Amino acid sequence: MKISILGLGYIGTTLFACLPSENRHVVGYDPRYSTLDELFHSDVANTEPELRAYLDDARANDWLTLATTPRQAVLASDVTLVCVGTPATPNGELNLDDLEQATQQLGTALREKAGEHLVILRSTVPPGTTRDYFEPYLRNICPNPGVRVVYQPEFLREGSAVRDFFNPPFTVFGAANYDALTLSTLRTLSADVSGTLFFLEREAAEMLKLSCNAFHALKVAFANEIGAICQACGIDSGQVMDTLVRDTRLNISPQYLKPGFTFGGPCLPKDLDALCAFAQFGELGGNAGVAIPLLSHIQASNAAHLQRAVTAVRETGKQRVGVIGVAHKRGTRDLRQSPARELMLRLRADGFTVAAYDDCLTHADLSECRDSLAELIAESEVLVLVDRRYAEIEPWLTTRGDYSQVILDLTTTDAPHAAVKRIC
Ligand SMILES: NC(=O)c1ccc[n+]([C@@H]2O[C@H](COP(=O)([O-])OP(=O)(O)OC[C@H]3O[C@@H](n4cnc5c(N)ncnc54)[C@H](O)[C@@H]3O)[C@@H](O)[C@H]2O)c1
Repeated sequence: MKISILGLGYIGTTLFACLPSENRHVVGYDPRYSTLDELFHSDVANTEPELRAYLDDARANDWLTLATTPRQAVLASDVTLVCVGTPATPNGELNLDDLEQATQQLGTALREKAGEHLVILRSTVPPGTTRDYFEPYLRNICPNPGVRVVYQPEFLREGSAVRDFFNPPFTVFGAANYDALTLSTLRTLSADVSGTLFFLEREAAEMLKLSCNAFHALKVAFANEIGAICQACGIDSGQVMDTLVRDTRLNISPQYLKPGFTFGGPCLPKDLDALCAFAQFGELGGNAGVAIPLLSHIQASNAAHLQRAVTAVRETGKQRVGVIGVAHKRGTRDLRQSPARELMLRLRADGFTVAAYDDCLTHADLSECRDSLAELIAESEVLVLVDRRYAEIEPWLTTRGDYSQVILDLTTTDAPHAAVKRIC
């Protein structure tokens, strides 16, 4: 297999060093370099641990070539990796100017090539870029159906690029469809790399890349705000955070990371507010005065999510709403700061007729509660699922006779069901 790489910056140089092997030759192109020697003297090649050794080894084995035009690189290969920079613009969007130029060059070169060619976009791009921009642009220049396009986000980190290349957290692809040839090429390209391969839709892979970095940033900001409160109050932040991460059941785990409905209940909102107040007023009424923009905006984020649910109900254009699941947790009778209860109050204030069903609550506990699911379903035009999945209520839907309710599922990110609306 012959691989070309367009863009030999941090990512491109790492791939240029780590991908070559006996039966995998790599040709790179970057307007910054006209000889391999120039590239070998670059900052990246000489500062990134182990990278220079991999480059020297590949060069000694004659597995590396530097092209002086993109055309030369593309035409010498079966697979092209596009690794150009996508820096931030002043308003925070990604600058796709280099990607535009590289796409133009790639498409022009591919016009001269008959047969199969796999193009893999490795640069970080906004969701939708591959589907709406990169691929159509490329196909417009080069309509050859043998050209296949995949997006593959890169997760390696500067300072440990070589180690991360061979041991990534995972390898993720995004494609509109995965034909057998594309799949086998992607598997061959990933043969030396550990971890699981995930085959996603293009937009999901693009979104995942941005989400991972946003999550990392969120974690840093969270740890720093907790640390700043600790510092102001003479608490050892190391003891707090080093122990916090030891909980791999609730803290560093998939728990609380599934899009769904708002958080609530007797503890989370109360204790979050208590932490924010503590940051402001400090120990025993002192004045810590710690700025915590992240922690102090979590309640606003939760409120915005509640509003999404209200808006989704309003957009149905229906009037009679049935909420399924009212207590803060299914199987309890605890209504304190229950998200469903908050939603019901908001909907009623907005003029909707609201009824509910909960396994553990009766009409005597809450006037809106019906005694059976069938009763609730029979009288509702919109059903809001707060504590159970669509499959659990489907057998009851016939009680209305016509399956005509709009169903808003706040519980799950499972594969979308045609009959169900979601807010996240
Ligand atoms: N640096 C990282 O740690 C990292 C990690 C993951 C993902 N990424 C993403 O990978 C992409 C590349 O990042 P980077 O840090 O390697 O960028 P970089 O700025 O270090 O390198 C980009 C290279 O592309 C070259 N280039 C520009 N136009 C070109 C063209 N038309 N043809 C060929 N080469 C061209 C530039 O000369 C430059 O050397 C970015 O989208 C970035 O967000 C970077």
